[in-house]
This record gives sequence, structure tokens and C-alpha cells, in this order.
Amino acid sequence: MLDDRVFHLRTQCSSMVVGIGPAGHVEQWWWGAPLDGTAEALGGLVPRWDEVPGLVLTHGHTSDSPLALNRQPLAWSSHGKGDFRQPGIGVVGQRVLDFTHHSHAVVEGVLPSGGLPVADAGPGTQTLDITTRDEVAGLEVTLRFTTFPASGVITRRTLVTNIGHEPIVLDRLASFVMDVPNLGFDVVTLDGWWLSEAHQTRTPLGQQVLTNASVTGASSAAHNPGLLVVESRADDQHGRCLGFNLVYSGSHATTVEGGQWGTVRVVGGPNPIDFAWRLAPGETTESPEAALTFSDQGLNGVRANYGHFVDHCIVPERWRQRPRPVVFNHWEGTYFDYDTDVLLAMAAQAAQLGAEVFVLDDGWFGQRNGPLAGLGDWSVNTDKLAGGLDALARGLAEHGLDLGLWVEPESVNVDSDLYRAHPDWAIAAPGRRPSEGRHQLLLDLTRPEVRDHLVGVLGDVLDSAPISFVKWDMNRLFSDASEPGFHHRYVLGLYEVLGRVFGPRPHLLLETCSSGGNRFDLGMLRFGPQVWASDCTDPFQRLRIQQGHSLFYPASTISAHVSASPNHQTGRVTSVDFRFGVAAPYVLGIELDPATLDPHDRARLAERVAWYRRHREGLQFGRHDHVAPALDGRQRLAVTTPEGVLVAEYGVSPRPGDANGLLQAPRGWPGMVEVEPVFGDKSPFVLPGAALVQGVPTTPLPDGHCHLSMLRPAG
Ligand code: DGJ
Repeated sequence: MLDDRVFHLRTQCSSMVVGIGPAGHVEQWWWGAPLDGTAEALGGLVPRWDEVPGLVLTHGHTSDSPLALNRQPLAWSSHGKGDFRQPGIGVVGQRVLDFTHHSHAVVEGVLPSGGLPVADAGPGTQTLDITTRDEVAGLEVTLRFTTFPASGVITRRTLVTNIGHEPIVLDRLASFVMDVPNLGFDVVTLDGWWLSEAHQTRTPLGQQVLTNASVTGASSAAHNPGLLVVESRADDQHGRCLGFNLVYSGSHATTVEGGQWGTVRVVGGPNPIDFAWRLAPGETTESPEAALTFSDQGLNGVRANYGHFVDHCIVPERWRQRPRPVVFNHWEGTYFDYDTDVLLAMAAQAAQLGAEVFVLDDGWFGQRNGPLAGLGDWSVNTDKLAGGLDALARGLAEHGLDLGLWVEPESVNVDSDLYRAHPDWAIAAPGRRPSEGRHQLLLDLTRPEVRDHLVGVLGDVLDSAPISFVKWDMNRLFSDASEPGFHHRYVLGLYEVLGRVFGPRPHLLLETCSSGGNRFDLGMLRFGPQVWASDCTDPFQRLRIQQGHSLFYPASTISAHVSASPNHQTGRVTSVDFRFGVAAPYVLGIELDPATLDPHDRARLAERVAWYRRHREGLQFGRHDHVAPALDGRQRLAVTTPEGVLVAEYGVSPRPGDANGLLQAPRGWPGMVEVEPVFGDKSPFVLPGAALVQGVPTTPLPDGHCHLSMLRPAG
């Protein structure tokens, strides 16, 4: 804070300057490269206008002041006083709102939230609250900025207090509003669907409103909440990029508006379609936290900042920098068709392949022999698993494997004891038959008795056997919620259940999943440090999915399995080396029937997994840089590990004429570099380190082949 009107928030790679404008509005004066300067100098960052040209609406009497909200860069804004861009707040029945500075305060660390997950403090974390008021509306809005200097991230939250005498209903509450000068931007979003999550879409921004939103009730595989606004010339390694993400797992909306007056407005938070909140006099509510980052080092700079932030301030404390185990999941090996003998036979082979945890997936409980029945009945089906979970855990322990358990607690089958006992616990709109997804209904987590039931029944199961890992699944979209704001209250209910189940059991490694990556977001990561990134295990598809997710979520959060060939989702045939090479830079697992591997592949996979286990710490927590593709049809990823830089190159549809390719790395080295092929019989060789940025001609890499090379300073 520089003085009472200028606030300077600094991180290792950025400055954000927020100031109080002439009529008390909170203005966004800078967000970009780190700055030094006095309050006066920083005040020069914002335009002040003398003239009032045509169609400009002044905030008050034009003859008193030329202040026009529509052309000021603002850090908060509402509708009805001449700012015609997207607003941050909406109140039912009051379409004119105008918030001006009331007070401010700075505290060390982070401030807690009442029910929504927020990031933990890192070194040097400070929080700035700027409180504004609209006395006419009887509302106070506090803009909360928290700096995470080591990560290059600044978070924002919005708190609203009813300071009037009547209840009010909010129908929109953004986590942030931010105006930045238009540098000629593209907007990068992660779009897709089941099996095709996180495909990057890049859209040039004109004078328009681009919306990245989910309305499914979840953060969604359709449109992940993470979004970038990047200079048009930016690529993986170059250019200015602004990152926005939400610590939120529900329907969300972020709009990017290329406006008049050379500014771009970004507004993000819960999707107003699924948001409503009633505030009695004296009550306060708050938005989800948003995590913002700036980098002038291209998309890789964003990856590094968000990666550091998630690894150090988002995932549960116990799992920060703690290497994740190699999981074996039998799902694609058996689907619902298994019993203890089948599982233990697989476990014996899984252990030989190098797995450390055996995850018992869907089908172990109630009458769950297929998707039609049993969801909701969380007691072991002893017809399948004689002796229950404890006996299975003992059997697994003989092979040196821990037990992991799949659950899908939010859902219920109509054909279940739970539904028969409590049909009213499922979400349903009055007078309508609820829609089903995968033969499932959703439980109403806004109801305390439903939450209590889940906390009790899950606690009993998780304490009934030596379980070390939980996969929390959720396989349908939301429907039939007729009350305004239901979805937001559902998400709060979900967070409460997760906190009550996993808070007292920090030893459990929680992997979240929602038909794969339908809920891959910072909210879920606050409870479980990794996510099953996609139900698609085809390595070609996974390259794209993982690269997309890695913009906002580090390698340690991306669960990636080696599965069978032909692939169950696409039918594509690939080598075990390619499947391994694609999964290895992330949290590696295995998901196939090992008996279907030929002896050569089995030995190969075991050797590869052993290598992974030796290097996993660096792979999971090292910096991941993608190298913008050259014209040789290969994808390249470089992971900086303590042992060196692992360069992974993947042959993806090279053109027939592209006989050779380039060995490239994101950064050069002074002196010589030794390049050691990780697998195969090729010998290490030496190159001038500086040549690798431009690229060094290398041998062909056909479709579906990969090279992993470890690069270290030579000698
Ligand atoms: C969807 C998950 O994404 C799969 O991995 C598997 O757990 C199935 N659900 C089980 O029903």
C-alpha cells in the first residue's frame, strides 16, 4: 500500500496497482510486469479525461466532472451509472448500484472463508480489503485481494454485507471485475466433453463479449473455469498472458469484453443462471476465490505460476511436494465383472508391474453389478468380496499393495435401498419426473440430513479397513433443481461433506473424478490433490487433454494411466512405450488386465514403471514447459527435474516428408549438454547447449512413437 488511494500488490513476476478514483470508485491501474514507483508515478498509469465526447455519460453533472465510468479501468463495477460493460453484482429489484470507497485494511496471510475453499498462505502472503458502499442500496462490498508472491498469483474475492433494513436477494456476484488495456488479445479456453476434456480453443477478441461458462452444475468438461487472455503473438514460450481461474466447482461464468476506449474487461464468478443468495439485514456472503496470474513468458509462464500456486497453496497440506503412488485400477480390466479371486490375481501381476496402490473401483457395494442398481448403498457386497474390504486389504498387503476405494456418494440409483428409504432425498422439481443420467439421480446436498448421512456412512466404510486412497466419482449433470441459487448451495454442501469426511482423515489420498475431468477445478483440488483427468485413456487424445489441463493444473494433479491396446474408447492400437511415455510426465497409474499383456510388453512396462518410480518426484513437481511445435508433427514437453531436463517428444501424425525432426528444449544451456536417451540402446551424445532452443536435427519419430531423453550439463 503506497498511500490511502494507491495500493500496489507485488509478486515475483508481476505488479497489480489498484487506486481510488476521483469519485471513490476502485480502479484497476496496472496489472503486468513488476513496477517500482511512487504513488504519484503509479497514478500516472490511469487515463484522466478532460473532454466529454459524444455518447459519453458522466457519473454526475457533466459541468462538475468529466468522470465517465464507461471509460475508466475499474476493479469493481455495477450497472446503472454509466458503465455499460459486464457488471460484478446484481440485486433483485435494484438495477442502479454504485459502490465507492469506504475504508481499507491490510493484514498478513489469508483470511478464512465461511464455507468456500480458499488458498492457503505462502511466504509473504498479504491480504488487502478495500471496502466500498452504496448507501442508497444499503449494501457494502469488500474487494479482497491476496498476494502469493512466490507463485506470481493474486487472488480476489468479493464480500457483500446487507447494511440496510430489508432483506435483499443477490442474483449475481462476481469474484472479480478487472479492466486491462487491450494489447490485441486472444482468449484461450479449455473446452470439450466427456472423453475430450480440456481441448484448447483460441479465439481472437474483437469488440464483443466472449463468455466461458458452465451451466451443468459442475465446473464441467464442457468449459473449464480456467481462462487465459493472451497477446495474439503469444505462444508456449513467448508473450504476455493473463490467467484467470476460480476456486469453485459449480456452474461458472467468465466474460471477456473487448470494449470501447481501448480496455478489456474480465468478470468471473459463479454463473448468474445458477446463483441467487438472500441476505437478511446484517448478513454477509462472499464469492468464490479467483486466482489471477500474469506472465510475460508465454503459456509456460502461466503453467509455472499456477503450478507453483496449486502445489504450494491449494492441494491439502499433507500432499504438498509429497510424491504420489503408482496406482493400479482394475476398472478397464474388469468393469463390473469381478470377485476377490479375480482382483487378487490381478493384484499379483499389478505388483510385479510396480504398482503400489490397488484401487477397487465401481461395483463393490450393494447390488451394484451394473449401472442400474445399488448406488447409495455403501455396504460391501460379500457375494463378490467374501470377507469384505478388510480381507481384500490383507490379500493386497501380501503383494505389497495398499487398498484404494472408489465411491460415488452424491448419486443414487432408484433401485437402491437408500432411495427406497428416502425418495425425497433425491433432487426433484415439484410435479416433474426427474431426469436421469447413467440411471442415476443426485442427492440433495443442500439438506443437512443428507450431508450427515453421507458423512456417517462414508466414515464407517473408510474406517472399516486399512484404506489409503479414495477415488471420489460423480457421473451425472444437474437437472430438476427448481429453486434459484440451488446449485451454489449444493456446491457449499459438497464442500462441507468433503471437509467433514477427509478433514479428520488426512492420511487418505483423495483423487476426485467426474466421469473423468468434468470437475477438474481448484475447488476440488483443495480437498484432493489429484484428478482423474479423463475417461479417455487413448494416448493420442491424452496428449491433448493433459497439455490443456496443464495450463492451470500442475503435473502432480493430473492422473494418467497406461491402459490396454486396442484402446477401449477409440479402438486405436498403440505401443506400450507410447502409452507409458504419454502418462509418465504426470501421476502415473496402470489400468488394464495385466494378463492381456504379452510377456515382452509386461517386462517392458515393469522396467518403465521402475524408472518412473525413481524419477517421479521430479516428474510430478518439476516445471513443465511445452515447446511450441515445429513443422515436424511432434509434440514436445520438457520437465525440469533435479536430475536434469527430461525432454519427451511424441510423434503425432508427421507428414510423410517429415523424415527428420528437431530435438528442442524451452531454454538453452551455457556450455555442452549431454543427451541421454532414457530407454533403448542408443548411447548418450553431447551437443552445444545453446543450440537446443532453436532445435537440433534428429532422427525420425514415426506416428505413435516417443523419445524420452534426459539432458544434463556435460562433464
Ligand atoms: C467413471 C470414472 O471416470 C471411471 O474411471 C470409473 O470409475 C467409472 N465411473 C465407474 O463407474
